[in-house]
Amino acid sequence: MKEQLNGIRVKAQEELSTVGSISELENIRVKFLGKKGELTSVLRGMGALTAEDRPVIGQLANEVRSFIEGKLEEAKKELMKKEIGLKLEKEVIDVTMPGKRKMLGKKHPLSNVIDEINEVFIGMGYEIAEGPEVEKDYYNFEALNMPENHPAKDVQDTFYISENIILRTQTSPVQIRVMENKKPPIKIICPGRVYRSDAVDATHSPIFHQVEGLVVDKGVTMGDLIGTLKVFAKSLFGEKTDIRLRPHHFPFTEPSAEVDVSCWTCGGSGCRVCKGEGWIEILGAGMVHPKVLEKCGIDPSVYSGFAFGLGVERTAMGRFNIDDLRLLYENDVRFLKQF
Ligand code: PHE
Repeated sequence: MKEQLNGIRVKAQEELSTVGSISELENIRVKFLGKKGELTSVLRGMGALTAEDRPVIGQLANEVRSFIEGKLEEAKKELMKKEIGLKLEKEVIDVTMPGKRKMLGKKHPLSNVIDEINEVFIGMGYEIAEGPEVEKDYYNFEALNMPENHPAKDVQDTFYISENIILRTQTSPVQIRVMENKKPPIKIICPGRVYRSDAVDATHSPIFHQVEGLVVDKGVTMGDLIGTLKVFAKSLFGEKTDIRLRPHHFPFTEPSAEVDVSCWTCGGSGCRVCKGEGWIEILGAGMVHPKVLEKCGIDPSVYSGFAFGLGVERTAMGRFNIDDLRLLYENDVRFLKQF
């Protein structure tokens, strides 16, 4: 039995010296110390020993057990150290690697242009006004001197919510809303979305944006309008920019004009962007019609005013050399990223 026990000790030590993992270690523990293990089965034979031998063998068996337990413990510590070492090696962080860049969104080119326009007019002392996109026929047409059956309503056909409620075709109804609520001096701009029942193509969209402007005070003249638009055009398109007024008709201004700016690409000599014209039309303007002032309770013999309405899409397309309006609405990041 002595030899058996010593044999177990040697064998266990041998096996433990080459153990490679925690699970192998557990197998070894079971094999030698488990209920059905080698040491246990030797101890089962103790009953056959003489009373003299029994304590001697018993003591030896205990020694062998604690020897193996000690060795198991040692091996376990070794293995844990190794495993932690391996893990640390594997999970090592390279602090010199470049970080993951967060994708940051940015302003849409249309919002950019609107913000720029706002800036210019705020700089000239204008306030920003707002009005509803779902608008009464009265504000969109009638109060703007376009009564029922007026032919100008035809070119601004729109979406009807009901007979008297429509999607506004222009930001001009905001002129009326402001004049109804505020007495002169008035100096506002109103950027906003407008609607017309146009089919989509490279230069048309049923939804687009305008910036309306309105100034009403004593002694406001056409000269003030021209001066204002000149300052605006130079601020937005550069110092060298000039403007040109062509006579036009709007029912709510008198006189009325369409306003061109000198081409931001060629400066006026004619190029692809201005289609050889040298000028690009970006807004409609005029002196507020006395009838419109009257409708809002402002005395046209005391006050006068000018108004203008600017096409945001057209301005943005010019600024950024965009040749198809649809690109502004498709939200393709490959396109939007460029601005
Ligand atoms: N509302 C006009 C349009 O959409 C533009 C305009 C505004 C003209 C203000 C004159 C004065 O065409």
